Amino acid sequence: MLLSHASSIRSIVGAQAVFSKHLVRTRMVQHMRNDAQVTRHRAGSVLSLFSRQALFKGWRLLAVVSLALLLGLVQPAAKSAHASDSYYGTLQQQLQSTYGLSNAGTFPIADTESGVLAQAHAVFLNSAQGTTPQTVNVSGQPFTQALQLSVPTLPRKDWYLLERFTNTAAISQNDVVHLVLWVRSIQTQTNQGLIQVKLSSGGTAWGSRSILINSTWTRYDLPMQASNAAAVGNAYLEFFYSYQIQTFQIGGIALLDYGQDASNLGKLPQTPIQLGYPGEDPNAAWRSSANQRIDQYRKANLTVVVKDQQGNVVPNANVAVHMTKQAFQFSTAASDYLGYVNPNATYQDKILNTAGPGTGTGFNMLEEENDLKWQGYENTTTRANVANFIKWAHDHGLAYRGHNLVWPCNLPSDVNQGYQANGLNWLLSTIRNHVTDEASYYGTSINEWDVINEPTQNDCLEYAMQSQGQDYVAEYANWFQLARNALGTGVPLYINDEGVTINSGANMTMHSFYRNLVQSLLKKGAPLDGVGFESHFDSPQTQLTDPTDVYAALNDFASLSPNLQLKVTEFDIKLDTITDPAVRAKLEADYTRDYMTAVFSQPQVTGFQIWDFWDGDSWINYAPIFNQDWSVKSAGQAYMDLVYHQWWTDTSGTSDTNGSYTTRGFKGNYNIVVTANGQSQTATAVLNSDQTVTVTLGGANPMPTPTPNPTPNPTPTPVTGGLPSPWQTQDIGTVGKTGSASYNNGSFTLAGSGTDISNSADAFRFVYQPLTGDGSVIARVNSIDNTDPWAKAGVMMRESLDPGSANALIAITPGNGGTFQRRTSTGGNTVFTQATGAAVPYWVKLTRQGNTITGSISPDGSYWSQIGSDTVTMGATIYVGLAVTSHNNSSLCTGTFDQVSITH
Ligand code: XIL
Repeated sequence: MLLSHASSIRSIVGAQAVFSKHLVRTRMVQHMRNDAQVTRHRAGSVLSLFSRQALFKGWRLLAVVSLALLLGLVQPAAKSAHASDSYYGTLQQQLQSTYGLSNAGTFPIADTESGVLAQAHAVFLNSAQGTTPQTVNVSGQPFTQALQLSVPTLPRKDWYLLERFTNTAAISQNDVVHLVLWVRSIQTQTNQGLIQVKLSSGGTAWGSRSILINSTWTRYDLPMQASNAAAVGNAYLEFFYSYQIQTFQIGGIALLDYGQDASNLGKLPQTPIQLGYPGEDPNAAWRSSANQRIDQYRKANLTVVVKDQQGNVVPNANVAVHMTKQAFQFSTAASDYLGYVNPNATYQDKILNTAGPGTGTGFNMLEEENDLKWQGYENTTTRANVANFIKWAHDHGLAYRGHNLVWPCNLPSDVNQGYQANGLNWLLSTIRNHVTDEASYYGTSINEWDVINEPTQNDCLEYAMQSQGQDYVAEYANWFQLARNALGTGVPLYINDEGVTINSGANMTMHSFYRNLVQSLLKKGAPLDGVGFESHFDSPQTQLTDPTDVYAALNDFASLSPNLQLKVTEFDIKLDTITDPAVRAKLEADYTRDYMTAVFSQPQVTGFQIWDFWDGDSWINYAPIFNQDWSVKSAGQAYMDLVYHQWWTDTSGTSDTNGSYTTRGFKGNYNIVVTANGQSQTATAVLNSDQTVTVTLGGANPMPTPTPNPTPNPTPTPVTGGLPSPWQTQDIGTVGKTGSASYNNGSFTLAGSGTDISNSADAFRFVYQPLTGDGSVIARVNSIDNTDPWAKAGVMMRESLDPGSANALIAITPGNGGTFQRRTSTGGNTVFTQATGAAVPYWVKLTRQGNTITGSISPDGSYWSQIGSDTVTMGATIYVGLAVTSHNNSSLCTGTFDQVSITH
C-alpha cells in the first residue's frame, strides 16, 4: 500500500537495485508520519467553505481585485493576488479569509482547470494495463471538469497505475503547501473505491493519504510542508489507483503554496480519515451473528463432578471456576531491551499483568519486534539476549512468536553485498542456509514462526527469480520445508502480510495477490500452517474497515483450507487526522472493540497481536494500550474490557443432585476450587471442547457428614510398588534389568531398562492405570539419566501390556529433545516426530479423542506446543501412564516425574 519510487525505476536498474527499496519505504513512512503530527483543523469547518454567503463575498472581492488589476492599480504580487479563474480564485480567497492565512498563496501547478489538466500525465508502470484517462464535464460543482480514471484489470501492484501532475513554478523547502481535490467513484469492486494521493519531490514524500471514494463528490483538504526544494517539474502530485477494478473521477485539483510562514500550516483545514465506519452502530446487525459465533467457537461446556473419597457424588458443593489463561493468543510485540536486557520493571509487569498489578491478566504470547529478523540474528549478542528473553517469556507462561526468517527486500546489508558480488544462486542458497540455521538455533523454544514477511509489496526476490526464469513460489515453498525440517510439526509456520483487512477491504490488488500466493504455496505442498494479517490502522495511510468486511476477508482466506490458521498481526490504531480528542478517543476505542470482535468470531483465527503496547516504546510513537505515563488509552480500555472481562470466565455455582455443576466458559486453562462440608479441593482443567472434570474431595474430613444410606465400601485396589491407587506398575517386554517404580508426595520415580520403546516391540518400565474412551495424561519430566542420548521418559497410552501393542508416547530424551512416537497397529513399526530443543524439566501431554492421539510438550505446563497428531486405533479401554526406557539393556535409567494428571 505504501509507495516507493525506488520500485518504479526497477525495470531500468535491474534486480541489484531493488534491495534499497524497503529502506526507502521505511524512511518514507517515518516521514509521512512526522507530517501527520501537526495539529490540524477539523473537517467540519471545510463544509462551510462554499456556503452561499461566502461564495458571494468571494465573487465580490474577486470582481474588485480583477477590476483593480485591469486598471493597473494593483501589481500582481506573489502570494497575495487571487487567481482569475472562478474556482481557483474563490478557493484561494475563501481559504485565506476563513482560516486567517497570512497570505493568499500561489498555485505552483496552475490556477485554471485547463492549466492543471495540462500538467497531468498517465503513468503505467511495469507494463501494467491501464485505460487512457478522459476529461469529463461536471455540473453542479464549483469546478467544471474532471479526470476520469479506470482500472480494467488488477496489476501485480497497487501503485502500478498512477496519474502524475508536475509543478510549473518552483517550490522552496519548508514551504507550506495545501492540496485541495474532489473525488467520486463511478464504479467500484468493493463497497468503496480506493486511491492514494501523494506529494513528493525527488523520492521524498511530503505527505500522502489513502482516500476511500463514494459515489458523491467529496472534497479533501490536505495541508503539508515541502520537505525539500522542488525545481520546476520536480514536484510530483500523484494519484495511485490500481487498488481494485474501479472507475472514478478527480476534479477541482488545486495545489497552493503559502511560502515559508509555518503558522499557516496549523491554520489550514485537514480532512480527517473517513469518520466512523459502516457497522459502528451499537445495534448493527453484524454484532449478534459475531457474538453467536464467539459463543459457538470460542466457548465450551465445563462440567465439574464432585465426589467424595468413596466415589459418591457430592451435591450442593460450591464450585468456583477461575480462568488462568485463554486458549486464543493475545500477544504483543515487545522489545528484548526493555523486557530482558535492561528490564523496565513496569514494562515487564504490564506484559504479565496488563489489567493491573497482581491481576494475572497478561498477554499469553510475545513477539520480538526486530531482533529475530535476520539483521538481529546476525549479531551474536542480540541472539543470546533474545534467547534469554524467550526463556523469560516461557518462565512466565507466555508463548513466543518468531518474526521473521525472510523479509524480502529487507535483507542484511552483507547479504545484499554478497548477492551483488555472487549473483542470485548464491543469494538463494544463503537464504536457505539462514532459514535452517536460525530455525534450528532457537528450535522449539520459538512456538510459531513467520517464515516469509510481506512478500506482496516486497517483490525483490520474486522479481529477481522471475527474471532468471525461476519459479519463486517453489523457492518460497522450499523455505517453509526447510523450517519444517528444522522444527518438526509442533511449530506452526506462517506467512505474514498487510493490506487485506485495512482500508475498508478495498485493496483487492493486495488481497488477490496474497490469496493466490497462499493458495499456490498450499498447492505446491509447502508446510504453510498459517496466514498473518497486519493491521496497522494508523492514519493517514489507513482507513477503517466495516467489521462485516473484515470477517468476509478472513473467511475468504479460511476457505482455502479448513486447516489454515489465521492470525491478526501488528494491530495499532492511531487516528491522528482527527483533531478533536474526544471524537478521536471514541473512534479508536469503538473500532478496536469492533475489529477485535469480528476477528475473534472467525473460527480459524488463532490470535490477535498488537504491534507494541506502550507509547514509551512504539514504532509509530503511539501504541494502542498505554500512554507514556502508563495511563490506559481509550483503545486500551476497550481491549481490556474484551480480553479480561467479556472474553474471560470467572464464575461459580453449586453442584446439583448428581454432584455436577456445568458452566459455559471461554476455551483456556482453569483452576477449579471445590468446597463442601468444610473441605476444599483444587484441580486444573484445560478446556478446548466440552469436558467433564471429576474432583474428589480428599484428606481428613473435619466434619464428617452422616451418610443416611451408607453404600458398601468399594473393593480396595491393592497398592502396587508403593504407588497410590489406581496406579500399577510392571516391566513391559524383555528388559536386561528389572525395573521399579515408587511414589512420594506427588513425585514418581521410575527405573527402567530395555533396548528402547521403538520399532515393532517395546522394552521399558511402565506405571499405568486404565482409561476408557477419551482422555489425556500430563506429567512434568523432571529428570532422566543419560544412559543413552535416546533414553526416554514420558507419558504413554497403549492398548495392552504386550511389547508389540499399539501405542503412543511423548517423551523427553537426554540428548535428542522431545519425541512423539506411535505404533499405529499391533506389531507394526514405530514412527516418531522429534521436537529438538526440549530438555528436562519439561512437560509432556497425550490426548486421546476418538482414535486421534495428540502429543504436546510445554516448558511450563501452561503453553503447549503440539508435536504431532496421529490415528492410533485401540480398544475402548487402554492403559495410560508413565514410561521410562534406558535404551541400554545392561543398565537401568531413572526418570522422575511430578504434576501427573489424568483426565477422563
Ligand atoms: C518495524 C519495526 O516496528 C520497526 O522498529 C523497524 O524499524 C521496522 O520494522 N511490518 C512488519 C514489521 O512486518 O516487521 C515492521 O516492524 C512493521 C511493518
